[in-house]
Amino acid sequence: MKKICFVCLGNICRSPMAEFVMKQMVQRKDMAIESRATSHWEEGNPIHPGTQTILKTYQIPYDKHKGSQQISLSDLEHFDLLVAMDESNLQELYRLSQGRFDHKLRLLLDRSVPDPWYTGDFEETYALITEGCRHLLQEIEG
Ligand code: 4NP
Repeated sequence: MKKICFVCLGNICRSPMAEFVMKQMVQRKDMAIESRATSHWEEGNPIHPGTQTILKTYQIPYDKHKGSQQISLSDLEHFDLLVAMDESNLQELYRLSQGRFDHKLRLLLDRSVPDPWYTGDFEETYALITEGCRHLLQEIEG
């Protein structure tokens, strides 16, 4: 069983998009995929309408009732892989890890996924996330 967690700042735009894109791509049943925020700012809040529109447009099934959840140290222990959307998210994960779980931490792509909360460009987010998830899946499935 491989357990993957996507991580962004608010867990309402990028990481939930990655969570449901990856869930749709994955054929293996023995893979658990979730997402978290580095901040508590959006705790309990639903997926951003911009991300919901993308998921509907591309017919990707998702949980309408998913609420934002801040990452904790026990998540670093639980998941096998924590995939950050940008450099700042990755730095936050390293700060939380304090060297204990650094081997589980990585970026989705070799560059940051810009935050659509600020850019408003959810199509760009979707393009980068699908590219990143495709590569990640190839790597995992060998
Ligand atoms: P996300 O986007 O990290 O992709 O979920 C953001 C959502 C909320 C905020 C920032 C980024 N915020 O400042 O509340």
